[in-house]
Amino acid sequence: MSVETLYQEMKQKLERVVPDFELRYKAELAEQINQLKKEKNAVILGHNYMEPALYYSIPDFRGDSLDLSRKAAQTDKDIIVFCGVRFMAETAKLLNPNKTVLLPSEKAGCSLAASITAQDVRQLRERFPGVPAVAYVNTYADVKAEVDICCTSSNARAVVESLHSDTVIFLPDEYLARNVAKETGRHIIFPTLEKEGETKTSTTLDYQPVGEMVGWHGRCEVHEKFTIKDIQAVRQQFPEVVILSHPECSPEVVAASDFSGSTNAMIRYVKETNAPQYLVLTECAMGDNIAAANPDKDMLRLCAVRCPHMNQITLEDTLKSLQLNQYEIDVPEDVRLRAARSVERMIAIG
Ligand code: 13P
Ligand code: SF4
Repeated sequence: MSVETLYQEMKQKLERVVPDFELRYKAELAEQINQLKKEKNAVILGHNYMEPALYYSIPDFRGDSLDLSRKAAQTDKDIIVFCGVRFMAETAKLLNPNKTVLLPSEKAGCSLAASITAQDVRQLRERFPGVPAVAYVNTYADVKAEVDICCTSSNARAVVESLHSDTVIFLPDEYLARNVAKETGRHIIFPTLEKEGETKTSTTLDYQPVGEMVGWHGRCEVHEKFTIKDIQAVRQQFPEVVILSHPECSPEVVAASDFSGSTNAMIRYVKETNAPQYLVLTECAMGDNIAAANPDKDMLRLCAVRCPHMNQITLEDTLKSLQLNQYEIDVPEDVRLRAARSVERMIAIG
């Protein structure tokens, strides 16, 4: 495809969200990336949080964490370039030990993945012997290697229920754990918060617990920022707004929203419904991406909130990544084998 054709395609989709001079410049970069991608037999996976010009020009597949894990498991290309954050690229490597997996920026981490170590998991498991452990996919490979199964925000409930255990360890996102505990009718405890004299259990339950969940104190530095006050202020100004939140938001924010789900689920919800306005409480670039895909719908934004890690991934660095084969993801084989088992078990559940 010529630069001009790509530019015209991007313009058609993005002229309301990206300035024209930026689109022209980015179409040139995207065309070079697409050319090199073909020459090197590479596939590009793009998470829903990628900035709009990148999101709508170079990925072969776009999606949420679960979707992209599945795509990574199925690819027959030699190189996988992951436009997302490190834990996602690592997941692709776990499933494709013989392929080259590249992450365009070394700085694309995640506050959740950084919140827990393999040693933390081992200690917790010693404290709760025999209790099955679930790790959110937003963790590094050595942590995934210490648990029984992984989950994403799309399948967390199904994964917990698949364990058929009264007590489940669920790591490391405090808010996702609280939300899943509520969905699966569990009472939740936080041994580490208890130690620090903070909340021991969730607030008074409005359901009869059928089991227990053991959580950790990790938080997403983006989703923890949304508050009930934000929701009240927006509802006051736009009484008919439909508010969607990611389950990494606090249970209070999720309860005050009209819908909560993974990034894919929120995209689908906006596509399939018709409301006067929508507000998506998640990384801000996704609001732009949804607005571009739904030109007839009115998307409100709370754009103070951006993920500093997802934002590291640019077209410039993706081009360099393909040119210089950087930054290659490597996972020691003994860790990879155990971590891959946790991811494969999750994929088998759906
Ligand atoms: P999803 O799995 O919903 O795409 O979420 C990934 C993520 O990092 C959310 O902050
Ligand atoms: Fe991690 Fe939150 Fe960024 Fe997702 S949005 S990558 S959970 S810091």
